[in-house]
Amino acid sequence: MSTTIPSLEQLHALHPLQQPTYADTDLLGRVIAELRKRPPLVFAGECDDLRAKIADVAAGRAFVLQGGDCAETFDNGTALDIRGKLRVLLSMAVVLTYAAQVPVVKLGRLAGQYAKPRSKDTETRGGVELPAYRGDAVNGLEFTAAARAHDPNRLMELYNHSAATLNLIRAFVTGGFADLRAVHTWNQDFVRNTGVEARYEALADEIERALAFMVACGVDKQAFRTVDFYSSHEALLLPYEHAMTRVDSRTQTPYNTSAHMVWLGERTRQVDGAHVEFARHLRNPLGVKVGPSTSPAAAVALVDALDPGHEPGRLTIITRMGADKVRDALPPIVEAVEATGRQVAWICDPMHGNTFEAANGYKTRAFSQVVDEVNGFFDVHEELGTWPGGVHMELTGDDVTECVGGVADALAEADLPNRYETACDPRLNRNQSLELAFQIAERLTDGRIKRVNPVQEYRVEDF
Ligand code: PEP
Ligand code: CO
Repeated sequence: MSTTIPSLEQLHALHPLQQPTYADTDLLGRVIAELRKRPPLVFAGECDDLRAKIADVAAGRAFVLQGGDCAETFDNGTALDIRGKLRVLLSMAVVLTYAAQVPVVKLGRLAGQYAKPRSKDTETRGGVELPAYRGDAVNGLEFTAAARAHDPNRLMELYNHSAATLNLIRAFVTGGFADLRAVHTWNQDFVRNTGVEARYEALADEIERALAFMVACGVDKQAFRTVDFYSSHEALLLPYEHAMTRVDSRTQTPYNTSAHMVWLGERTRQVDGAHVEFARHLRNPLGVKVGPSTSPAAAVALVDALDPGHEPGRLTIITRMGADKVRDALPPIVEAVEATGRQVAWICDPMHGNTFEAANGYKTRAFSQVVDEVNGFFDVHEELGTWPGGVHMELTGDDVTECVGGVADALAEADLPNRYETACDPRLNRNQSLELAFQIAERLTDGRIKRVNPVQEYRVEDF
Protein backbone atom coordinates (compact mmCIF):
# COMPACT_ATOMS: atom_id res chain seq x y z
CA MET A 1 0.00 0.00 0.00
CA SER A 2 1.35 3.41 -0.93
CA THR A 3 2.14 5.97 1.72
CA THR A 4 2.87 8.78 -0.74
CA ILE A 5 1.83 9.84 -4.22
CA PRO A 6 4.06 11.02 -7.07
CA SER A 7 4.55 14.79 -7.26
CA LEU A 8 2.69 16.78 -9.90
CA GLU A 9 6.05 17.32 -11.62
CA GLN A 10 6.63 13.58 -11.81
CA LEU A 11 3.16 13.07 -13.27
CA HIS A 12 3.74 15.92 -15.69
CA ALA A 13 6.88 14.18 -16.94
CA LEU A 14 4.63 11.31 -18.07
CA HIS A 15 2.82 13.71 -20.43
CA PRO A 16 -0.72 13.33 -19.08
CA LEU A 17 -3.37 13.37 -21.79
CA GLN A 18 -6.49 15.55 -21.90
CA GLN A 19 -5.12 18.26 -19.60
CA PRO A 20 -5.98 21.96 -19.87
CA THR A 21 -3.34 24.35 -21.23
CA TYR A 22 -3.22 27.32 -18.89
CA ALA A 23 -1.69 30.58 -20.06
CA ASP A 24 -1.08 31.79 -16.49
CA THR A 25 0.86 29.05 -14.72
CA ASP A 26 1.57 31.27 -11.70
CA LEU A 27 -2.15 31.61 -11.13
CA LEU A 28 -2.53 27.82 -11.49
CA GLY A 29 0.16 27.38 -8.82
CA ARG A 30 -1.68 29.73 -6.45
CA VAL A 31 -5.01 27.95 -7.01
CA ILE A 32 -3.43 24.55 -6.37
CA ALA A 33 -1.79 25.84 -3.17
CA GLU A 34 -5.16 27.19 -2.01
CA LEU A 35 -6.93 23.90 -2.83
CA ARG A 36 -4.40 21.96 -0.81
CA LYS A 37 -5.55 23.91 2.27
CA ARG A 38 -9.25 23.31 1.71
CA PRO A 39 -11.05 20.75 3.88
CA PRO A 40 -11.62 17.30 2.38
CA LEU A 41 -15.00 16.67 0.78
CA VAL A 42 -15.11 13.05 1.91
CA PHE A 43 -13.49 11.08 4.70
CA ALA A 44 -11.15 8.13 4.39
CA GLY A 45 -13.48 5.95 6.48
CA GLU A 46 -16.34 6.55 4.05
CA CYS A 47 -14.12 5.45 1.15
CA ASP A 48 -13.27 2.32 3.13
CA ASP A 49 -16.97 1.61 3.70
CA LEU A 50 -17.62 1.96 0.00
CA ARG A 51 -14.73 -0.39 -0.78
CA ALA A 52 -16.32 -2.99 1.50
CA LYS A 53 -19.66 -2.58 -0.28
CA ILE A 54 -18.03 -2.94 -3.67
CA ALA A 55 -16.35 -6.08 -2.37
CA ASP A 56 -19.90 -7.41 -1.84
CA VAL A 57 -20.60 -6.57 -5.47
CA ALA A 58 -17.43 -8.33 -6.60
CA ALA A 59 -18.56 -11.37 -4.62
CA GLY A 60 -21.97 -11.33 -6.36
CA ARG A 61 -23.94 -10.20 -3.31
CA ALA A 62 -24.86 -6.65 -4.35
CA PHE A 63 -25.43 -4.46 -7.39
CA VAL A 64 -24.04 -1.01 -8.22
CA LEU A 65 -26.18 1.80 -9.53
CA GLN A 66 -23.91 4.62 -10.67
CA GLY A 67 -25.45 7.59 -12.43
CA GLY A 68 -25.74 11.28 -13.07
CA ASP A 69 -24.93 13.88 -15.69
CA CYS A 70 -22.32 13.39 -18.37
CA ALA A 71 -21.06 16.81 -17.31
CA GLU A 72 -22.33 18.71 -14.29
CA THR A 73 -22.35 22.47 -14.83
CA PHE A 74 -21.93 25.30 -12.35
CA ASP A 75 -25.24 26.87 -13.47
CA ASN A 76 -27.23 23.69 -13.10
CA GLY A 77 -26.17 22.83 -9.58
CA THR A 78 -29.46 24.07 -8.19
CA ALA A 79 -31.31 22.37 -5.36
CA LEU A 80 -34.03 21.27 -7.77
CA ASP A 81 -31.57 19.75 -10.20
CA ILE A 82 -29.70 17.88 -7.48
CA ARG A 83 -32.92 16.68 -5.90
CA GLY A 84 -34.14 15.50 -9.29
CA LYS A 85 -31.06 13.37 -9.90
CA LEU A 86 -31.12 11.97 -6.39
CA ARG A 87 -34.79 11.15 -6.70
CA VAL A 88 -34.42 9.21 -9.92
CA LEU A 89 -31.41 7.31 -8.57
CA LEU A 90 -33.21 6.44 -5.33
CA SER A 91 -36.31 5.40 -7.28
CA MET A 92 -34.23 3.14 -9.53
CA ALA A 93 -32.47 1.71 -6.48
CA VAL A 94 -35.82 0.96 -4.84
CA VAL A 95 -37.00 -0.84 -7.98
CA LEU A 96 -33.84 -2.95 -7.99
CA THR A 97 -33.83 -3.58 -4.26
CA TYR A 98 -37.49 -4.44 -3.96
CA ALA A 99 -38.23 -6.06 -7.30
CA ALA A 100 -34.91 -7.89 -7.69
CA GLN A 101 -34.22 -8.20 -3.96
CA VAL A 102 -30.60 -7.26 -4.34
CA PRO A 103 -28.79 -4.71 -2.13
CA VAL A 104 -27.90 -1.69 -4.24
CA VAL A 105 -24.73 0.37 -3.82
CA LYS A 106 -25.72 3.90 -4.78
CA LEU A 107 -23.03 5.98 -6.48
CA GLY A 108 -23.70 9.43 -7.90
CA ARG A 109 -21.87 10.65 -10.96
CA LEU A 110 -21.98 13.99 -9.22
CA ALA A 111 -20.36 16.50 -6.86
CA GLY A 112 -17.21 16.60 -8.98
CA GLN A 113 -18.11 15.47 -12.53
CA TYR A 114 -17.16 18.77 -14.18
CA ALA A 115 -14.26 17.88 -16.52
CA LYS A 116 -14.53 16.19 -19.91
CA PRO A 117 -12.02 14.47 -22.17
CA ARG A 118 -12.56 15.47 -25.82
CA SER A 119 -11.69 13.74 -29.06
CA LYS A 120 -10.71 17.07 -30.67
CA ASP A 121 -8.84 19.98 -29.06
CA THR A 122 -10.80 22.57 -31.02
CA GLU A 123 -14.28 23.19 -32.35
CA THR A 124 -15.01 25.11 -35.56
CA ARG A 125 -18.25 26.96 -36.18
CA GLY A 126 -18.83 29.16 -39.22
CA GLY A 127 -15.12 29.28 -39.97
CA VAL A 128 -14.20 30.25 -36.39
CA GLU A 129 -11.97 27.80 -34.51
CA LEU A 130 -11.91 27.87 -30.70
CA PRO A 131 -10.75 25.49 -27.98
CA ALA A 132 -13.24 22.67 -27.40
CA TYR A 133 -15.44 22.79 -24.29
CA ARG A 134 -13.74 20.63 -21.65
CA GLY A 135 -16.28 20.93 -18.87
CA ASP A 136 -17.01 23.82 -16.51
CA ALA A 137 -13.94 22.90 -14.46
CA VAL A 138 -11.80 24.04 -17.40
CA ASN A 139 -13.71 26.52 -19.60
CA GLY A 140 -17.19 27.75 -20.52
CA LEU A 141 -19.63 26.21 -22.99
CA GLU A 142 -20.40 29.49 -24.72
CA PHE A 143 -18.70 29.72 -28.12
CA THR A 144 -16.55 32.80 -27.50
CA ALA A 145 -12.79 33.10 -27.15
CA ALA A 146 -13.19 34.46 -23.61
CA ALA A 147 -15.42 31.59 -22.42
CA ARG A 148 -13.34 28.90 -24.09
CA ALA A 149 -10.02 30.05 -22.55
CA HIS A 150 -8.75 27.61 -19.91
CA ASP A 151 -9.04 29.32 -16.54
CA PRO A 152 -7.34 27.97 -13.37
CA ASN A 153 -9.83 29.86 -11.17
CA ARG A 154 -12.44 27.37 -12.33
CA LEU A 155 -10.69 24.68 -10.26
CA MET A 156 -11.66 26.59 -7.14
CA GLU A 157 -15.23 26.83 -8.42
CA LEU A 158 -15.11 23.10 -9.07
CA TYR A 159 -14.24 22.57 -5.41
CA ASN A 160 -16.93 24.98 -4.20
CA HIS A 161 -19.68 23.52 -6.38
CA SER A 162 -18.69 19.97 -5.46
CA ALA A 163 -18.79 20.87 -1.76
CA ALA A 164 -22.20 22.54 -2.02
CA THR A 165 -23.65 19.64 -4.03
CA LEU A 166 -22.31 17.00 -1.68
CA ASN A 167 -23.54 18.96 1.31
CA LEU A 168 -27.08 19.02 -0.06
CA ILE A 169 -26.93 15.34 -0.98
CA ARG A 170 -25.81 14.49 2.54
CA ALA A 171 -28.72 16.54 3.92
CA PHE A 172 -31.19 14.84 1.59
CA VAL A 173 -30.08 11.30 2.33
CA THR A 174 -29.92 11.69 6.09
CA GLY A 175 -32.56 14.35 6.67
CA GLY A 176 -35.71 12.44 5.76
CA PHE A 177 -35.99 12.90 1.97
CA ALA A 178 -34.65 9.40 1.34
CA ASP A 179 -36.95 7.85 3.95
CA LEU A 180 -38.37 4.73 2.34
CA ARG A 181 -41.76 5.55 3.76
CA ALA A 182 -41.69 8.59 1.43
CA VAL A 183 -41.15 6.45 -1.64
CA HIS A 184 -44.52 7.62 -3.00
CA THR A 185 -43.68 11.29 -2.76
CA TRP A 186 -40.48 11.12 -4.83
CA ASN A 187 -42.41 10.86 -8.04
CA GLN A 188 -45.55 12.73 -7.02
CA ASP A 189 -45.23 15.14 -9.94
CA PHE A 190 -45.22 12.39 -12.55
CA VAL A 191 -47.74 12.97 -15.28
CA ARG A 192 -49.71 9.82 -14.59
CA ASN A 193 -50.35 8.66 -18.10
CA THR A 194 -47.74 6.09 -18.90
CA GLY A 195 -47.10 2.50 -17.93
CA VAL A 196 -43.84 3.10 -16.14
CA GLU A 197 -45.45 5.58 -13.75
CA ALA A 198 -48.31 3.21 -12.96
CA ARG A 199 -45.80 0.44 -12.42
CA TYR A 200 -43.75 2.59 -10.08
CA GLU A 201 -46.87 3.58 -8.14
CA ALA A 202 -47.88 -0.05 -7.75
CA LEU A 203 -44.42 -0.92 -6.48
CA ALA A 204 -44.48 2.02 -4.08
CA ASP A 205 -47.85 0.80 -2.74
CA GLU A 206 -46.38 -2.62 -2.14
CA ILE A 207 -43.34 -1.18 -0.39
CA GLU A 208 -45.55 0.95 1.82
CA ARG A 209 -47.50 -2.10 2.89
CA ALA A 210 -44.33 -4.10 3.45
CA LEU A 211 -42.83 -1.36 5.60
CA ALA A 212 -46.02 -0.96 7.60
CA PHE A 213 -45.93 -4.70 8.21
CA MET A 214 -42.32 -4.55 9.36
CA VAL A 215 -43.02 -1.65 11.69
CA ALA A 216 -46.00 -3.55 13.09
CA CYS A 217 -43.62 -6.45 13.69
CA GLY A 218 -41.39 -4.18 15.71
CA VAL A 219 -38.61 -3.32 13.21
CA ASP A 220 -37.09 0.02 14.16
CA LYS A 221 -38.46 2.76 11.88
CA GLN A 222 -35.12 4.54 11.98
CA ALA A 223 -33.74 1.81 9.73
CA PHE A 224 -35.82 3.17 6.84
CA ARG A 225 -34.87 6.79 7.33
CA THR A 226 -31.48 7.12 5.70
CA VAL A 227 -29.50 5.61 2.84
CA ASP A 228 -25.82 5.39 2.04
CA PHE A 229 -25.02 7.41 -1.04
CA TYR A 230 -21.53 7.93 -2.44
CA SER A 231 -19.97 10.42 -4.83
CA SER A 232 -17.83 9.61 -7.86
CA HIS A 233 -16.38 11.27 -10.93
CA GLU A 234 -13.75 10.78 -13.62
CA ALA A 235 -10.32 11.66 -12.20
CA LEU A 236 -9.21 13.68 -15.20
CA LEU A 237 -7.65 16.97 -14.11
CA LEU A 238 -4.49 15.93 -12.35
CA PRO A 239 -3.74 19.30 -10.68
CA TYR A 240 -7.14 19.24 -8.95
CA GLU A 241 -7.18 15.54 -8.08
CA HIS A 242 -3.63 15.81 -6.77
CA ALA A 243 -4.41 18.87 -4.65
CA MET A 244 -7.38 17.07 -3.08
CA THR A 245 -5.32 14.00 -2.15
CA ARG A 246 -4.37 13.80 1.52
CA VAL A 247 -2.53 11.24 3.60
CA ASP A 248 -5.00 9.86 6.14
CA SER A 249 -3.64 10.24 9.66
CA ARG A 250 -5.11 6.93 10.78
CA THR A 251 -3.76 4.66 8.06
CA GLN A 252 -0.93 6.83 6.68
CA THR A 253 -2.20 6.15 3.17
CA PRO A 254 -3.28 8.68 0.50
CA TYR A 255 -6.96 9.21 -0.25
CA ASN A 256 -8.34 11.42 -2.97
CA THR A 257 -10.77 13.38 -0.82
CA SER A 258 -12.62 14.93 -3.77
CA ALA A 259 -14.92 11.88 -4.05
CA HIS A 260 -15.51 8.48 -2.52
CA MET A 261 -14.69 6.73 -5.77
CA VAL A 262 -12.88 8.01 -8.83
CA TRP A 263 -12.56 6.34 -12.21
CA LEU A 264 -10.17 6.58 -15.13
CA GLY A 265 -11.76 7.26 -18.50
CA GLU A 266 -11.30 5.30 -21.69
CA ARG A 267 -9.01 7.99 -23.10
CA THR A 268 -6.63 8.33 -20.14
CA ARG A 269 -6.21 4.80 -18.85
CA GLN A 270 -2.92 3.92 -20.59
CA VAL A 271 -1.10 1.55 -18.26
CA ASP A 272 2.14 3.57 -18.47
CA GLY A 273 0.33 6.93 -18.43
CA ALA A 274 0.15 9.63 -15.79
CA HIS A 275 -3.43 8.90 -14.71
CA VAL A 276 -2.74 5.27 -13.89
CA GLU A 277 0.47 6.27 -12.14
CA PHE A 278 -1.50 8.73 -9.99
CA ALA A 279 -4.53 6.54 -9.28
CA ARG A 280 -2.65 3.39 -8.36
CA HIS A 281 -1.35 5.13 -5.20
CA LEU A 282 -4.83 6.08 -3.97
CA ARG A 283 -6.62 4.10 -1.30
CA ASN A 284 -10.07 4.97 -2.66
CA PRO A 285 -12.01 2.32 -4.55
CA LEU A 286 -11.16 2.88 -8.23
CA GLY A 287 -13.01 2.44 -11.47
CA VAL A 288 -11.59 2.07 -14.93
CA LYS A 289 -13.49 2.35 -18.21
CA VAL A 290 -12.79 -0.32 -20.77
CA GLY A 291 -13.89 -0.05 -24.40
CA PRO A 292 -14.07 -2.51 -27.32
CA SER A 293 -10.52 -1.93 -28.54
CA THR A 294 -9.05 -3.20 -25.25
CA SER A 295 -7.13 -6.44 -25.61
CA PRO A 296 -7.40 -9.03 -22.83
CA ALA A 297 -3.66 -8.52 -22.19
CA ALA A 298 -4.16 -4.76 -21.83
CA ALA A 299 -7.02 -5.35 -19.39
CA VAL A 300 -4.82 -7.66 -17.32
CA ALA A 301 -1.97 -5.12 -17.33
CA LEU A 302 -4.43 -2.52 -16.05
CA VAL A 303 -5.74 -4.66 -13.21
CA ASP A 304 -2.16 -5.63 -12.28
CA ALA A 305 -1.28 -1.93 -12.03
CA LEU A 306 -4.41 -0.79 -10.21
CA ASP A 307 -5.05 -3.77 -7.95
CA PRO A 308 -1.64 -5.26 -7.16
CA GLY A 309 -2.93 -6.60 -3.82
CA HIS A 310 -5.87 -8.56 -5.32
CA GLU A 311 -8.17 -6.71 -2.95
CA PRO A 312 -11.90 -7.33 -3.45
CA GLY A 313 -13.70 -4.01 -3.83
CA ARG A 314 -10.59 -2.16 -4.89
CA LEU A 315 -11.37 -2.18 -8.57
CA THR A 316 -14.50 -1.77 -10.65
CA ILE A 317 -14.24 -2.38 -14.37
CA ILE A 318 -16.76 -0.28 -16.23
CA THR A 319 -17.25 -1.79 -19.66
CA ARG A 320 -18.60 0.38 -22.49
CA MET A 321 -18.52 -1.72 -25.60
CA GLY A 322 -21.52 -0.68 -27.68
CA ALA A 323 -24.62 -2.82 -28.17
CA ASP A 324 -23.29 -4.36 -31.37
CA LYS A 325 -19.91 -5.33 -29.90
CA VAL A 326 -20.55 -6.28 -26.28
CA ARG A 327 -21.31 -9.96 -26.92
CA ASP A 328 -18.01 -10.47 -28.79
CA ALA A 329 -15.67 -8.00 -27.13
CA LEU A 330 -16.54 -8.54 -23.47
CA PRO A 331 -16.06 -12.31 -22.91
CA PRO A 332 -12.28 -12.49 -23.57
CA ILE A 333 -11.72 -9.53 -21.25
CA VAL A 334 -13.81 -10.98 -18.43
CA GLU A 335 -12.12 -14.36 -18.83
CA ALA A 336 -8.61 -12.90 -18.80
CA VAL A 337 -9.22 -10.75 -15.73
CA GLU A 338 -11.03 -13.53 -13.85
CA ALA A 339 -8.11 -15.85 -14.66
CA THR A 340 -5.85 -13.58 -12.57
CA GLY A 341 -7.88 -14.74 -9.57
CA ARG A 342 -9.06 -11.26 -8.67
CA GLN A 343 -12.53 -10.32 -7.51
CA VAL A 344 -13.36 -7.17 -9.42
CA ALA A 345 -16.78 -5.60 -9.78
CA TRP A 346 -18.02 -5.67 -13.39
CA ILE A 347 -20.34 -2.87 -14.30
CA CYS A 348 -21.90 -1.92 -17.59
CA ASP A 349 -21.86 1.57 -19.06
CA PRO A 350 -24.40 1.17 -21.89
CA MET A 351 -24.12 4.84 -22.82
CA HIS A 352 -20.69 5.65 -24.26
CA GLY A 353 -20.52 2.93 -26.90
CA ASN A 354 -23.94 3.86 -28.28
CA THR A 355 -23.76 7.55 -29.17
CA PHE A 356 -24.70 8.66 -32.68
CA GLU A 357 -25.69 11.78 -34.53
CA ALA A 358 -29.36 12.05 -35.44
CA ALA A 359 -30.33 13.27 -38.92
CA ASN A 360 -31.10 16.70 -37.42
CA GLY A 361 -27.56 16.99 -36.00
CA TYR A 362 -28.30 16.18 -32.34
CA LYS A 363 -25.92 13.85 -30.54
CA THR A 364 -28.19 11.14 -29.18
CA ARG A 365 -28.55 7.55 -28.01
CA ALA A 366 -31.35 5.08 -28.62
CA PHE A 367 -33.01 3.61 -25.53
CA SER A 368 -33.29 0.29 -27.38
CA GLN A 369 -29.51 0.14 -27.85
CA VAL A 370 -28.90 1.04 -24.22
CA VAL A 371 -31.17 -1.85 -23.22
CA ASP A 372 -29.49 -4.09 -25.77
CA GLU A 373 -26.03 -3.43 -24.35
CA VAL A 374 -27.27 -4.10 -20.81
CA ASN A 375 -28.81 -7.36 -22.04
CA GLY A 376 -25.60 -8.29 -23.84
CA PHE A 377 -23.66 -7.61 -20.67
CA PHE A 378 -26.01 -9.89 -18.73
CA ASP A 379 -25.80 -12.56 -21.47
CA VAL A 380 -22.00 -12.59 -21.30
CA HIS A 381 -21.90 -12.87 -17.52
CA GLU A 382 -24.60 -15.52 -17.57
CA GLU A 383 -22.56 -17.53 -20.07
CA LEU A 384 -19.34 -17.19 -18.07
CA GLY A 385 -20.94 -17.69 -14.66
CA THR A 386 -19.70 -14.30 -13.44
CA TRP A 387 -21.80 -11.69 -11.69
CA PRO A 388 -23.10 -8.69 -13.67
CA GLY A 389 -22.36 -6.26 -10.86
CA GLY A 390 -24.07 -3.08 -11.91
CA VAL A 391 -24.78 -0.30 -14.34
CA HIS A 392 -23.27 3.13 -14.99
CA MET A 393 -25.72 5.59 -16.51
CA GLU A 394 -25.89 9.14 -17.79
CA LEU A 395 -29.26 10.32 -16.57
CA THR A 396 -31.17 13.20 -15.11
CA GLY A 397 -34.30 13.62 -13.03
CA ASP A 398 -35.78 16.00 -15.57
CA ASP A 399 -38.05 15.14 -18.45
CA VAL A 400 -35.43 16.04 -21.05
CA THR A 401 -35.48 14.88 -24.67
CA GLU A 402 -31.90 13.79 -25.32
CA CYS A 403 -32.12 10.03 -25.96
CA VAL A 404 -34.62 8.63 -28.46
CA GLY A 405 -37.04 5.77 -27.78
CA GLY A 406 -38.28 4.41 -24.48
CA VAL A 407 -41.60 2.73 -24.02
CA ALA A 408 -43.25 5.49 -22.00
CA ASP A 409 -42.48 8.58 -24.10
CA ALA A 410 -41.24 6.89 -27.29
CA LEU A 411 -39.21 9.97 -28.15
CA ALA A 412 -38.53 10.49 -31.85
CA GLU A 413 -35.59 12.34 -33.40
CA ALA A 414 -37.97 15.21 -34.14
CA ASP A 415 -38.60 15.53 -30.36
CA LEU A 416 -34.92 16.07 -29.53
CA PRO A 417 -34.95 19.90 -29.84
CA ASN A 418 -37.79 20.23 -27.27
CA ARG A 419 -35.66 19.83 -24.16
CA TYR A 420 -32.12 19.09 -25.20
CA GLU A 421 -30.24 20.49 -22.21
CA THR A 422 -27.07 18.47 -21.71
CA ALA A 423 -23.70 20.22 -21.71
CA CYS A 424 -22.08 17.11 -23.16
CA ASP A 425 -23.54 13.64 -23.84
CA PRO A 426 -27.29 12.82 -24.04
CA ARG A 427 -28.85 11.54 -20.81
CA LEU A 428 -31.78 9.26 -20.11
CA ASN A 429 -34.74 11.18 -18.69
CA ARG A 430 -36.67 10.08 -15.63
CA ASN A 431 -39.11 7.78 -17.40
CA GLN A 432 -36.40 6.16 -19.49
CA SER A 433 -34.26 5.64 -16.37
CA LEU A 434 -37.08 4.05 -14.40
CA GLU A 435 -38.02 1.87 -17.34
CA LEU A 436 -34.47 0.63 -17.53
CA ALA A 437 -34.47 -0.13 -13.80
CA PHE A 438 -37.59 -2.29 -14.22
CA GLN A 439 -36.02 -4.12 -17.16
CA ILE A 440 -32.84 -4.79 -15.17
CA ALA A 441 -34.88 -5.99 -12.21
CA GLU A 442 -36.67 -8.42 -14.51
CA ARG A 443 -33.40 -9.68 -15.90
CA LEU A 444 -32.04 -10.19 -12.39
CA THR A 445 -35.06 -12.26 -11.39
CA ASP A 446 -35.78 -14.32 -14.51
CA GLY A 447 -33.65 -17.16 -13.20
CA ARG A 448 -30.99 -16.94 -15.89
CA ILE A 449 -28.32 -15.24 -13.77
CA LYS A 450 -26.82 -17.39 -11.05
CA ARG A 451 -27.58 -15.53 -7.83
CA VAL A 452 -25.17 -16.08 -4.97
CA ASN A 453 -27.30 -13.82 -2.89
CA PRO A 454 -30.19 -15.78 -1.43
CA VAL A 455 -33.10 -13.61 -0.41
CA GLN A 456 -32.59 -14.69 3.19
CA GLU A 457 -29.32 -12.74 3.34
CA TYR A 458 -31.12 -9.51 2.62
CA ARG A 459 -30.42 -6.87 5.24
CA VAL A 460 -32.62 -3.88 5.86
CA GLU A 461 -29.68 -1.45 6.01
CA ASP A 462 -28.80 -2.35 2.43
CA PHE A 463 -31.72 -0.38 1.05
C1 PEP B 1 -17.84 9.66 -19.62
O1 PEP B 1 -18.03 8.84 -18.73
O2 PEP B 1 -18.50 10.71 -19.74
C2 PEP B 1 -16.81 9.36 -20.64
C3 PEP B 1 -16.15 10.30 -21.29
O3 PEP B 1 -16.69 8.04 -20.83
P1 PEP B 1 -15.53 7.17 -21.51
O4 PEP B 1 -14.25 7.51 -20.77
O5 PEP B 1 -15.99 5.78 -21.27
O6 PEP B 1 -15.49 7.56 -22.95
CO1 CO C 1 -20.46 11.10 -21.23
